[in-house]
Amino acid sequence: MHIWMIGSGYVGLTTGCMFAYLGHQVTLLDTDAEKIARLQAGEIPFHEKGLPEVFAAARKNMAFTCRWDDFSTGADVVMVAVGTPSRESGDVDLSYVHTVAREIGRRLIARHLPILLKSTVPIGTAKEVQAIIQQELDNREWPGSITVIANPEFLREGEALQDAFYPDRLIVGTDDGQCLSTVHQLYQPLLEQRFHPPAGVFRPVGYAAPALLVTNSATAEMIKYASNAFLAMKISFINEFANLADKVGADIIDVAKGIGLDKRIGPHFLQAGIGWGGSCFGKDTKAIVQLGKQHATPMQLIEATLAVNQQQRQKVLHLLMDELSDLHGRTIGILGLAFKPNTDDLRDAPALELIEQLAKYGARVKVFDPVAMETCQKLFPTLDVNYCDNVDALFDGTDAVILVTEWEQFRDLPFSRLGQYMTEKRVIDTRNFWDPARLRNAGFSYRGIGRGQ
Ligand code: UGA
Repeated sequence: MHIWMIGSGYVGLTTGCMFAYLGHQVTLLDTDAEKIARLQAGEIPFHEKGLPEVFAAARKNMAFTCRWDDFSTGADVVMVAVGTPSRESGDVDLSYVHTVAREIGRRLIARHLPILLKSTVPIGTAKEVQAIIQQELDNREWPGSITVIANPEFLREGEALQDAFYPDRLIVGTDDGQCLSTVHQLYQPLLEQRFHPPAGVFRPVGYAAPALLVTNSATAEMIKYASNAFLAMKISFINEFANLADKVGADIIDVAKGIGLDKRIGPHFLQAGIGWGGSCFGKDTKAIVQLGKQHATPMQLIEATLAVNQQQRQKVLHLLMDELSDLHGRTIGILGLAFKPNTDDLRDAPALELIEQLAKYGARVKVFDPVAMETCQKLFPTLDVNYCDNVDALFDGTDAVILVTEWEQFRDLPFSRLGQYMTEKRVIDTRNFWDPARLRNAGFSYRGIGRGQ
């Protein structure tokens, strides 16, 4: 099939590469000419584990353009994966989606075309986009028609290829049953699992094929929001218990294990820490709270989820103050900047908020991240931190080191040696990533999150 993918951001590019790898023809359209030039030169504009390799293998089936004038003939399906950022109010800014709808409507020459909406959009957007395109078609008296299908994405950054090739479910929200054969054809390689996975992508143990759930478009749109809200709520839930665990001498890691053994609860997304970050959970939970307000249906659990997350970020600062009492003139090392490992994404990254607070209290800040430092320098050129070349340089002369992103390469650090470089041997492990006994044996004062200290 020939797919036009509109938007070459994180979702568009990963999904586009996946479909091209599976044998479809993919044309990527993004109005950002610089991004398209980089892709044409074989460069991926962000860090995602395994993506350069899949891109290299799939490129023969891909074309790129930054011009809507090229949008034309031959497409079997269009996918929309443009950004849907948050406004200050928490509302979703749909201007990119609306622009895309108008551009498609003005140029479409096929008789019938399914349009899959991959961007995370407020409930009702598929219908709205359908109406905008139809209006454009009517304006120029074109006899074609389109069907807009809500087809949300469930990719985790850092694990996006794993999730793209081995999804738990495919959600297809449409009010037009006729287009389902196209959707089947599109996803056939995944539904039948007929492909050799790319290097570094592994079939999960016991994996058969994704479940395919066909719903109406509003339901599919709600599934996306409800999924992210539920995951965010699980994290806020365990963080709240972690704070209590600290007070009563319980260990949150064992609490999570203990409750996770109940199949109805499950073991995932119960890692206590500094609170969730990233471009999705904050945006989507705020959007659902706004939607609730618009419909006089307060989303109280989700409001609490957001509030707990905000407090959790403060908790790390309180732990540090507990240790050092006055931060003025102290040197603090931040290990990890990205909102999670295996990505250079800094959107709503807890490390950035922490750095801001540390600066406010007069601390000097040193940072090290294996991939996100360049992005950080580019996006926040005025951030007053000392970027370190390696972990040794980060520990050198610090009064405390705070682990914020649990990169695997930070797990087995030579703590005895690193401790010798520090002014005072203190770590705050905001991801409960390290073994407290190991750190304490190496002479460190260790603070985790909810480990009963
Ligand atoms: C999330 C969802 O997991 C994806 O299913 C969804 O497709 C995506 O949002 C999206 O809407 O596009 P992502 O934000 O990439 O994916 O990353 P997650 O792995 O969900 O982690 C989000 C945040 O939660 C990170 O800051 C992570 O450190 C934190 N987290 C995660 C915890 O603090 N504890 C946990 O147990 C799990």
